[in-house]
Amino acid sequence: MPKATTGDVVSTEDQAVPTVGVTAALNEDGPAREQTVNTFELHKVNVHYGDMLAVKDVSLDIPHNQITAFIGPSGCGKSTLLRSLNRMNDLIPGARVSGDVLYHGVNMYGPKIDPVQVRTVIGMVFQKPNPFPKSIYDNVAFGPRILKMKGNLDDMVESSLRRAALWDEVKDRLKDNAFGMSGGQQQRLCIARAIAVQPDVILMDEPCSALDPVSTGKVEDLMLELKKEYTIVIVTHNMQQAARVSDLTAFFTVAAMDQTNSRTGVLVEMDETRNIFSNPKDERTANYVTGKFG
Ligand SMILES: Nc1ncnc2c1ncn2[C@@H]1O[C@H](COP(=O)(O)OP(=O)(O)OP(=O)(O)O)[C@@H](O)[C@H]1O
Ligand SMILES: [Mg+2]
Repeated sequence: MPKATTGDVVSTEDQAVPTVGVTAALNEDGPAREQTVNTFELHKVNVHYGDMLAVKDVSLDIPHNQITAFIGPSGCGKSTLLRSLNRMNDLIPGARVSGDVLYHGVNMYGPKIDPVQVRTVIGMVFQKPNPFPKSIYDNVAFGPRILKMKGNLDDMVESSLRRAALWDEVKDRLKDNAFGMSGGQQQRLCIARAIAVQPDVILMDEPCSALDPVSTGKVEDLMLELKKEYTIVIVTHNMQQAARVSDLTAFFTVAAMDQTNSRTGVLVEMDETRNIFSNPKDERTANYVTGKFG
């Protein structure tokens, strides 16, 4: 198996260099967090699944403490690109990321970076709420216990549930199984679980698509609250949601490649959300956001 080089991820198993946490790597190799303007900077990122090029040549910046939305038709690579931001694609056999994914200026796919630690700093919330078959308390305490985080566990659980706007609804039934919660509560529990390990970034892949409008509103309010502390990237098919919550929007589409005629996800444009929805530069974006295509 070839060795990984800068920005060319093949495997993490055969790297001789001992891995360190991404935060330690930041301290060692990178500028201090506050000195970087963007949380992520992507330069010509490609993602393959085997021979299939799923996402081609994506270059974009994701700034701190903002909500960035990825929108576009099904299959354009939104989830694939989102997973490249916390090395979740490493877990998919055949998936390969190339190009540069810089996290606070540090190559996140560099040989020293421990992908497991990356996923604690850059948390993820999925389309379908996926609480563990444990109590509400144990779901939130899971990460701090695994990471042996210092501090009072009860306090950590309470503050995470409070920040996820769930505390008042569950404080009297913390020992109950999480599966007894409503879907919207389960999704907020998953957000509480993600923030319990004090991440820097929260990635959300269609976090509201299984929720009713009331729960969706709660999760959207929560995102707006959380962006004060975290950088958030959200994939959504809901145009109103992107318009309501995001500061920046990236529109992707599926393009037929010239030589092979295979279909690949490309970034059409990224801009402030209000420009994408009211004054997009590209006709494909205009057609999509007005519902003419997609
Ligand atoms: N695990 C995988 N193995 C192989 N191919 C995959 C895998 N996941 C996604 N793909 C392919 O990569 C391309 C992009 O898929 P992706 O799921 O990222 O799209 P998406 O924009 O998130 O779509 P949707 O809006 O339907 O969720 C598609 O052609 C898809 O079939
Ligand atoms: Mg998807």
